[in-house]
Amino acid sequence: MSNVCLITGGARGIGAATARLVAKDGMAVAIGYRERADAAEALAAEIKAAGGRAAPVKGDVASEADIISMFDQAEKALGPVTGLVNSAGISIKSAVRDFEAAALERLMAVNVIGLILCCREASRRMTSGGAIVNISSMAAPIGGRAGASAYAATKAAVDSFTTGFAKEVGKRNIRVNAVRPGMTRTDMTAHQLGDPKIEAKLAETIPMHRVGEAIEIAEAVRWLLSPAASFISGAHVDASGGGFVIGDRWD
Ligand SMILES: NC(=O)c1ccc[n+]([C@@H]2O[C@H](COP(=O)([O-])OP(=O)(O)OC[C@H]3O[C@@H](n4cnc5c(N)ncnc54)[C@H](OP(=O)(O)O)[C@@H]3O)[C@@H](O)[C@H]2O)c1
Repeated sequence: MSNVCLITGGARGIGAATARLVAKDGMAVAIGYRERADAAEALAAEIKAAGGRAAPVKGDVASEADIISMFDQAEKALGPVTGLVNSAGISIKSAVRDFEAAALERLMAVNVIGLILCCREASRRMTSGGAIVNISSMAAPIGGRAGASAYAATKAAVDSFTTGFAKEVGKRNIRVNAVRPGMTRTDMTAHQLGDPKIEAKLAETIPMHRVGEAIEIAEAVRWLLSPAASFISGAHVDASGGGFVIGDRWD
């Protein structure tokens, strides 16, 4: 069986940290990117220089045609896809009274429909089994921090879909799990964690009193993709320093 993992959002943040780790484990990595060709190509070159196999694959997960194309590109470059990490995601932070329909539609298209269509594509192509990890969020079970209710709702959809999809494909030896990161240092959180005062306030709301690093989330994803997790499916694994205190405001 080939050992090829497609990682959407693979050029940055949690996706890139995962790509580096699983490449060290011997997986060939298709690095999904939407805009940052430079970052995807640099990461592929880094993995190849270390003796691994990698290829950048371009696509917007809000487009069904692009999703199909990303799987085609991955198969052409590396072979049949047996692993999928859905890390591509966006967030919006806004009071509900200020929501705009177009922004909500984009949020749902990327975080929910795109992820589901990537899983559909994997389900069609993983004819000899496989492993899928969906990047959800600790926001899902608690409705998010203030201003993140719509984002949290998309991640709750990811959790529910993960549970249902895992039931459907278990007999085909396709395992499907979710990882729920807490506040993690990436570009997505740079506007908050770029300010040490805001980071300190956020850290106070986390039981371990610090934010996470991308590699700490990637380690959970790596485990779920690996044969070490061979009987784990339909799980939601929290990687969040113990969760966070509900209701705290930092802004
Ligand atoms: N950081 C956190 O605190 C945190 C906490 C909980 C959950 N998460 C989740 O973790 C996942 C990864 O986030 P991150 O923190 O690593 O953020 P990030 O550094 O901002 O990375 C986001 C990635 O998603 C990709 N992406 C965005 N829209 C896309 C689209 N329409 N099509 C294809 N790719 C798209 C970006 O690709 P380009 O670079 O090409 O634009 C980028 O690689 C997300 O699903 C996020 O919701 C993050």
